[in-house]
Amino acid sequence: MFTGCATEANNLAIRGVAAALRDRGRHIITSAIEHPSVAAPFGLLGQQGWDVTVLPVDESGMVNPASVAAALRPDTVLVSVMHANNEVGTIQPISAISAITRPKGIVLHTDAAQSVGKIPVMVDQLGVDLLTIAGHKFYATKGVGAVYFVRWLVSDKEGSVQESPLDILKRRYARGEIGRDTFERMKKDLEP
Ligand SMILES: Cc1ncc(COP(=O)(O)O)c(C=O)c1O
Repeated sequence: MFTGCATEANNLAIRGVAAALRDRGRHIITSAIEHPSVAAPFGLLGQQGWDVTVLPVDESGMVNPASVAAALRPDTVLVSVMHANNEVGTIQPISAISAITRPKGIVLHTDAAQSVGKIPVMVDQLGVDLLTIAGHKFYATKGVGAVYFVRWLVSDKEGSVQESPLDILKRRYARGEIGRDTFERMKKDLEP
């Protein structure tokens, strides 16, 4: 989904997932070294009653996947850890983090604003559900960002957030908005 910048993409990803999954749990996790466009929506959600865990980094500026595993709770719905850091350039171990979150059905977002266009970024290899892109970091015109949605997660209509993603999927299939193949693929994607 295209946005006006990476800040908008990060806000859409984090606040969108929180809105869509708020009935599933109220715990979200991020790291202490995120760009303000990730830290701010986490702060906002904290003010709105979400439990926010902010993971520290080690002396090299790395998030330890073991600290992600230790922070997970039964009500954790979202983890957001950036791919490449904008100040010190560390590349975070996103694949190792997704190996922990994915089997538990916890949504993983990464802010790849500083990595896409500079190092190879493969969403399948990273195992993320959402990935933020900043066009102007790799020679696009200004005013272009995007969120890559690896899995179909959020509802498309205001007011439908009470429904589970599976309910919404079934409704869309029943209405003929999506075909059987797409329905089956998305349904499989939603399975934990
Ligand atoms: C890691 C990271 N995320 C997000 C952003 C925000 O990008 P934008 O200026 O497109 O909103 C930046 C900007 O430098 C960044 O470095």
